[in-house]
Amino acid sequence: MAIVEQKRAALPVPHAMERADRVPKERYYDPAFFELEGDQLWSRTWQMACRLEEIPQPFDFTEYEIGDQSVILVRDEDDGVTALQNACRHRGVRLAIGQGTCESGFTCPFHGWCYGADGTNTGIPRRRTFAQENLQAGDVDLTPVRCEVWGGCAWINFDPAAPPLRECLEPLATDLDAWHVSSLRTEWWYACHLPVNWKLAIEAFVEAYHVPQAHPQLVIPTRYGLRPGETFDPAGFIDADIQYLRAMSDGMAGMVHADDVAIAEGLRDLELPDDAETAMATWNRTLNEAVTRWHRERGADIPDLNDLAARGLNVEFFQGFPNFFLLPMYSSASAYRFRPLGPEETLMEIWSLTRPAAGEERPRPVPPEAWTHDDPRWPPIPAQDFGNIPRQQLGLHARSFEYMRLSEGLEGHISNFERTIDGFLAGLGHEQLLPALQTVNVYPFDKPIADLGF
Ligand code: FES
Ligand SMILES: [Fe+2]
Repeated sequence: MAIVEQKRAALPVPHAMERADRVPKERYYDPAFFELEGDQLWSRTWQMACRLEEIPQPFDFTEYEIGDQSVILVRDEDDGVTALQNACRHRGVRLAIGQGTCESGFTCPFHGWCYGADGTNTGIPRRRTFAQENLQAGDVDLTPVRCEVWGGCAWINFDPAAPPLRECLEPLATDLDAWHVSSLRTEWWYACHLPVNWKLAIEAFVEAYHVPQAHPQLVIPTRYGLRPGETFDPAGFIDADIQYLRAMSDGMAGMVHADDVAIAEGLRDLELPDDAETAMATWNRTLNEAVTRWHRERGADIPDLNDLAARGLNVEFFQGFPNFFLLPMYSSASAYRFRPLGPEETLMEIWSLTRPAAGEERPRPVPPEAWTHDDPRWPPIPAQDFGNIPRQQLGLHARSFEYMRLSEGLEGHISNFERTIDGFLAGLGHEQLLPALQTVNVYPFDKPIADLGF
């Protein structure tokens, strides 16, 4: 593999990131750039294709679409997942649409070619009318796609030369395993149709610079300690922290799970020391302990959150390059996935994930119908972001606007992300891309521009 990879010549990238702190605007709407992403990025990168609870039983399947490609994901009898290109080998019809079960395999609705759940061709009506060359063994089976499982999800990659999934998700895959990420299950799943480029949508969620202006309700002064001359008020601090958790729960579509907010509420009368730093540490430790205990008492699988904190594990914000996010908070998490539908159109999905109690059965999640970005049902925080980014997409087209100007200190992640994309578009080998992925996957806020090695 290494030899083949080294032979890749760098291809010219239009609208490339020539300066690390400037993003050319054409990257967000040029149809040729969008097409190049299809050819060089989406064809070579790991993508979260489904959550495992979408296909809970053997022979359950679901369809994953990315651009003009469609993949069928089938739960195997031995609990693994098989991924198959969704195209009948006769004349190309898509065999599966949405979710279902395929105990008797797939039958093409056009001329009735049949396939087993593993993609093997099991029947061709009037077989003898075809030339033998067109019915070679293996060649009439559905084409397999690489598929690996991590973090409660099945991931696919169209590129046989890509490194194994886990390497591409490190270093956070290991930290999130310690947090028992695979025990999470879908509580709910929403989708938003955004009239913006997929990268523009992502970039609204990877910096905290916009928070004071766009989400003033999240700026709760006493939560962040003291202004000069102020004395620390322990009760005021607890109140501010609970207010923050509540805003992240109700206002942010469940980023902090309501159960964990209720647990924090139950600690409201905790006696804290007068020293601000000790008080905050005591509060965090007590809350972690209470959350761990509460979930364990109901038989949920949760690690000791204080143990994770003591080990310095990073379970705060994970980007599985390019388009998947996991945002853990205490026991639970939100997850986001962004898929391009066109140069200026994106499907953003949001999951609330939590830990089921022992023996708790949850229904098989069904792909949600996408709401528009201005649907009144969105909670306030995403609504604020969904209000801004379509205006940004429109503003980019201004004749006088050339490129985005990034803050080197606060928006470095956007630069690292865009330059990693350029590495894919230039056709660099995976041995060069892997260290860049591992840089991009780690916590994005206030992150400096990094040297990616290309
Ligand atoms: S296209 Fe599927 S059987 Fe003809
Ligand atoms: Fe935001």
